[in-house]
Amino acid sequence: MNVEKAILIIAASALLVATVLMTVNVLVNQLDNRKLSLEQRVQTILDNQPIIDGHNDLPWNIRNLAYNDLRRINLASDLSKHEIWGKVNTSYTDFPRLRKGRVGALFWGAYTDCSSQLKDSVEQTLEQIDLIKRLVKKYPNYLEFAFSAADIENAIENKKIASLIGIEGGHSIQFSFGILRMFYSMGARYMTLTHDCNTPWVDASPVDPSSVDKNPTLLPQNDGISEFGLRIVKEMNRLGMMIDISHVSQRAMEKALKHSVAPVIFSHSSARAICDHHRNVPDSVLRLVKKTNSIVMVTFSSAVVRCDGTRGNVSDVVKHIQHIRSITGPEHIGLGGAYDGGDVFPKGLEDCSKYPNLFKALLKTGDWTVEDLEKLAGKNILRVFQAVEQKRNELKDQEMEQGFINGEELDKKKVNLTCITANFER
Ligand SMILES: *[C@@H]1O[C@H](CO)[C@@H](O)[C@H](O)[C@H]1NC(C)=O
Ligand SMILES: *[C@@H]1O[C@H](CO)[C@@H](O)[C@H](O)[C@H]1NC(C)=O
Ligand SMILES: *[C@@H]1O[C@H](CO)[C@@H](O)[C@H](O)[C@H]1NC(C)=O
Ligand SMILES: [Zn+2]
Repeated sequence: MNVEKAILIIAASALLVATVLMTVNVLVNQLDNRKLSLEQRVQTILDNQPIIDGHNDLPWNIRNLAYNDLRRINLASDLSKHEIWGKVNTSYTDFPRLRKGRVGALFWGAYTDCSSQLKDSVEQTLEQIDLIKRLVKKYPNYLEFAFSAADIENAIENKKIASLIGIEGGHSIQFSFGILRMFYSMGARYMTLTHDCNTPWVDASPVDPSSVDKNPTLLPQNDGISEFGLRIVKEMNRLGMMIDISHVSQRAMEKALKHSVAPVIFSHSSARAICDHHRNVPDSVLRLVKKTNSIVMVTFSSAVVRCDGTRGNVSDVVKHIQHIRSITGPEHIGLGGAYDGGDVFPKGLEDCSKYPNLFKALLKTGDWTVEDLEKLAGKNILRVFQAVEQKRNELKDQEMEQGFINGEELDKKKVNLTCITANFER
């Protein structure tokens, strides 16, 4: 036997051994994976990428139930066992349950009711921002403030819940570029363009007919978003503030998606095709979400998950997610549970400790890879937030919006200015 032949035989044997070892390794890994329970697989996924939730209304509950006095409430305890909070049907959030739910970041809603519009909406929004700041300061073992996508990742690295501010409702700024900019400087990183009422510059979702309201009494006034509203959108792009189009009319969704030069978000909305509620996103809009690199953060409140008035369960939320995915793919979905912002949540998603149940259910469908589920949990919203920051950097030389809204336009829309002494352009 010559040397070449010997080398060839040795090489061939080595290759054979390597192949056998690799095959055995793959088989062992597969067995290991099968041995890991669904629970363990979900834990690993949410350890790698904790949940980044688009909307939580705890601050509104603290306003209503504790008069914004943080001495009246211990959020480091399980509030479901508390004698008052445990009985309130909108209290589903506290820090132990957020940790159990594997939540790594939240946009806390700085919300004021539509009844404050053109009255003290700005004052109340300031109080809610102050409350969120005091909350983060009081619980440094649980919370860490975040103003950027990088801050979210840092807080998660530090095992803290990244805390961001989302302003819910354009009435919070009345019609002022100055107030918008001040809220941004205080830390607000998204603004929902409306709540349930029109502002003098954007129409809200109750103008759209749906199975819950076939003949809406709220009428469109702004063709979705008025010219002035588009200037607010432009200023938000310049600031790097995410434009949230949950709660707005379909026409307003379409216009925001068309005119925003950065991706936009639905911080808490589900699929209109599954539950025909005006708060949910129609298929045609879902296609625009994909086209613009935007995101729908699916919400859990039974009122928009089930249109038949029943409570529903995890499978119902899975239906919404699967439907959205069928149009956008897994890159444009996130989660915005909106806990504490509703009184009924589906079985299996009763409070903010239950997110892992949703991931178990999605794994069981067989449609979701580990990577897909990490995107859903948080990577998609991080990507969108980064794109908004990137656009802000590109726009750094764009001139800011200045001046006031036009008074004649307000008169034409019959905006009630009884409580307003502000100046307008005429
Ligand atoms: C929740 O409580 C409020 C206030 O007590 C009540 O009006 C509402 O009907 C309750 N919701 C449910 C689903 O019981
Ligand atoms: C949810 O409810 C439906 C209908 O009642 C049922 O078929 C389904 O198994 C339930 N899903 C879960 C996860 O309990
Ligand atoms: C305008 O608002 C004031 C103060 O809330 C109220 O008293 C008045 O009735 C309103 N006017 C109209 C026309 O709605
Ligand atoms: Zn809302």
